[in-house]
Amino acid sequence: MSRRIATGLALALGGCAGRQSALDPAADQASALHGLLGLMLVVSGAAYLLVLLFLGWAVWRNRRRRSQEVEIEPDDRGLQLGLGVWTGAMTLGLAVLIGASFLVDRTLAQHDQAAADIRVTGHQWWWRLEYRDPAGGWIETANELHLPVDRPTRIELRSADVIHSFWIPNLSGKIDMIPGRTNHLTLTPRRLGWVRGQCAEFCGLQHARMALDVKVDTPQAFAAWLADQARPAAAPSSPAAARGLGLIASGTCASCHTIRGAVAGGRAGPDLTHLASRRSLAAGTLPMTRGALGGWIAQPQAVKPGAEMPASGLAPDEALAIVSYLEGLR
Ligand code: CUA
Repeated sequence: MSRRIATGLALALGGCAGRQSALDPAADQASALHGLLGLMLVVSGAAYLLVLLFLGWAVWRNRRRRSQEVEIEPDDRGLQLGLGVWTGAMTLGLAVLIGASFLVDRTLAQHDQAAADIRVTGHQWWWRLEYRDPAGGWIETANELHLPVDRPTRIELRSADVIHSFWIPNLSGKIDMIPGRTNHLTLTPRRLGWVRGQCAEFCGLQHARMALDVKVDTPQAFAAWLADQARPAAAPSSPAAARGLGLIASGTCASCHTIRGAVAGGRAGPDLTHLASRRSLAAGTLPMTRGALGGWIAQPQAVKPGAEMPASGLAPDEALAIVSYLEGLR
């Protein structure tokens, strides 16, 4: 029943219940916060109810006295007792809330000293993700976070430019990503499937289009996905794709983007080695389709004004060749 109310409330508030909602916890950290929210609602609701009861009682008492023309006694035993109980109940309620929020805070802030499994760096306006490679080193990807279910994953949070805030409401509370500082977060997802994250600190023009797709996998599926991501890029599978790779390598794309095994390029933009394996483009802005890829490459400033990616200035057939290559990067 409470789940139904929570889901209804999430829908009423405009969130997609089950996709991006703090009222639908899918990890230990979000469950702890959700429990705290429930407790706060109960304690505050009880306090509100008590206030209303007292008000009603005072009105009723005053009316009765007036109608019977009774003098108000200076030391009213009932009133004194009522006020005493009221003060005691409020003190107890507040003490319970302070204690509970202290304990939840402690649970969320608990980090063992083990090294991070994932490094997340906020950029205007996308996410750089680096996974610790079981074989050593780091595996880089972007804008799509994969996590194994039922295991704590330690995440390191940084920023490359301004203050961002890492927030996956179904999994945990938000944590700021501050330039020059490293913050930590542990996530223990308990439910398989997709949820959505969103930058939660205004970070410039395209703050609203700084979303993060999050997939919770079984440990086996996660390991397989990570092994896939560690592989170098797929070779071009058609003459058009081969031409596209040539254009990327000789053009401006490579100065910002790396395609491992094909173009050892810059790191200013997202790693494209397995671009087509992701489900969205431009940090959750467009679905990963051939049409969206073409539109994004041709007119990034129309899709995401202010983004660091400049218009390519490519002829239509050149842009199509690049799309043919990129959509093969699975
Ligand atoms: Cu990044 Cu808002």
